[in-house]
Amino acid sequence: MAAKTILVTGGAGYIGSHTVLQLLNGGFKAVIVDNYDNSSEIAVERVKGLAGQFASNLSCHKLDLRDREGLEKIFASTKFDAVIHFAGLKAVGESVEKPLYYFNNNLIGTIVLLEVMAAHGCKKLVFSSSATVYGWPKQVPCTEEFPLSAANPYGRTKLMIEEICRDLYQSDHGWKIILLRYFNPVGAHPSGNIGEDPRGIPNNLMPFVQQVAVGRRPALTIFGTDYKTSDGTGVRDYIHVVDLADGHIAALNKLEDPKIGCEVYNLGTGKGTSVLEMVKAFENASGKKIPLKMADRRPGDAEIVYASTDKASKELNWKAKYGIHEMCRDQWNWASKNPYGYGSADSKN
Ligand code: NAD
Ligand code: UFG
Repeated sequence: MAAKTILVTGGAGYIGSHTVLQLLNGGFKAVIVDNYDNSSEIAVERVKGLAGQFASNLSCHKLDLRDREGLEKIFASTKFDAVIHFAGLKAVGESVEKPLYYFNNNLIGTIVLLEVMAAHGCKKLVFSSSATVYGWPKQVPCTEEFPLSAANPYGRTKLMIEEICRDLYQSDHGWKIILLRYFNPVGAHPSGNIGEDPRGIPNNLMPFVQQVAVGRRPALTIFGTDYKTSDGTGVRDYIHVVDLADGHIAALNKLEDPKIGCEVYNLGTGKGTSVLEMVKAFENASGKKIPLKMADRRPGDAEIVYASTDKASKELNWKAKYGIHEMCRDQWNWASKNPYGYGSADSKN
């Protein structure tokens, strides 16, 4: 059987690069489209290095998804079996300051992609949604049937794209769409060659912890110590990025199910971990002490969020394999080998 060819938008980014590697290792061909707005060509080169004999099954185009003509050309030259759509902006705070920038990039990018896919008869999509669509859940674990809401423009783009996909499927049952709601992806490939490299001051917990550990920042600020949790700090469902990447392969396989329409799945571990527990696990894995500053809650943060994993386990036949020890071990391996990510000390603040 000929290898399937998958278009991966945002494939140079954190989750995209790990997924592309798993695709190549799984015998797929992959074509990345990325404008490198929040990523680096070096990540793509590192993925090729890790893929060894499969490296020649990867190609990459520097392109903004909103460049319809450029995207048309790529679809005209290659027949794609499916698309995994990661490309988007993801910083919650920035989305509050620049909502139009977020709506323009995330919504228009997605609409152009869907239009070009339809025009070329490629109607299989896996989309990166987020647990952010559960808002502050009234109970946990979050099941896929929970009511949806958005607390900021970033979250609204996820919710809107989910709705666009549901409407698209209603209008044309030829589409097969899987919406994956990621919980909190952390860690890195065990090689330490690829990992997360955010621009500027990290918004998320583990990239910040990692920068404190390598001496780039003096201390971690803990946002909120008065939550109704075991130690007062917020609880999340952290998931190893390699497990998350494997979840995309499971979703691609599910797209072959003739009964699939537009379906949504949580990708999490089903376990909640507090900020302090995560910091402790990282300290154990790295042997580094993380200085802490206690602060007020961060506006918009939920108290406890973790996934129900039953649906993904039953229908995708997928389960996370790694726990927080492996997540922190691999995060530290990446950080200690690449203290400035894909750049150098001079190129970073
Ligand atoms: P990332 O920023 O590392 O990757 C996104 C990639 O998309 C980047 O390489 C960026 O350059 C590219 N991109 C952005 N806009 C583009 C455009 N218009 N055209 C072409 N390329 C564009 O982020 P990530 O953490 O890998 O996240 C991937 C996806 O998963 C995003 O859609 C994100 O919203 C979603 N998600 C991430 C998390 C998380 O915590 N990391 C959680 C839930 C959902
Ligand atoms: N936290 C700190 N200090 C920091 C950063 C985070 O204490 O410097 C705390 C937060 O208050 C929260 C926990 O660590 O309790 C996790 O925070 P993250 O910012 O890492 O993750 P969130 O759950 O807030 O949000 C992330 C992404 C969203 C996504 C969501 C669900 O940023 O885009 O996961 O997938 F929608």
